[in-house]
Amino acid sequence: MVSYEQIFEHNRKWVAEKTREDKAFFEKLSKDQSPDYLYIGCSDSRVPATDIMGVEPGEVFVHRNVANLVVSIDLNVMSVINYAVKELSVKHIIVCGHYNCGGVKAAMTPQDMGLLNPWLRNIRDVYRLHVAELDAIEDEKARYNRLVELNVQEQCVNVIKTAAVQKSYDEHGYPEVHGWVFDMHNGLLTDLKIDFTRILRDIQHIYNITGHEI
Ligand code: CO
Repeated sequence: MVSYEQIFEHNRKWVAEKTREDKAFFEKLSKDQSPDYLYIGCSDSRVPATDIMGVEPGEVFVHRNVANLVVSIDLNVMSVINYAVKELSVKHIIVCGHYNCGGVKAAMTPQDMGLLNPWLRNIRDVYRLHVAELDAIEDEKARYNRLVELNVQEQCVNVIKTAAVQKSYDEHGYPEVHGWVFDMHNGLLTDLKIDFTRILRDIQHIYNITGHEI
């Protein structure tokens, strides 16, 4: 484990390395940001967003919470989505879940989780939406993995429900929304290939915020 003091040593080494690669690195970095990607992922320490994507500072706008949830009354995630879409004009929004997610596991455990109850209830709602498919999976681990994927899919739908995303897509043809899963056993990302335009079309008669057909 890294000690508290070591973190600052690491930071100075990182600064030296970046400056050696490019003298103007921090001058450029401090000017502005125009990332093409918004990443919404889990807070889990084993899923470092920028590392697994291999991107540099300035390339991805990041939001993380327990079990990568997009909840309409969560001012935090909604502010992030609104800012990313309206001010940064991101071209892609990614919801990234991961297998072995403690949040998803806790939601599958029948016990009182205290303050986490209302948060994890969103995952239990995902289970309820897909109860037939999930209950048909006998192997508990396989069922848990599938819930991780379905949770990503439903959080993508929640992103698509927002006015910011619908209006921007209507006007500019972006952002597109993607669902990913990270597997910490091998470090690989999988694109779940959710059908963004089909979801948008399917939810339109209920969640359309633009006032006309998209
Ligand atoms: Co997690």
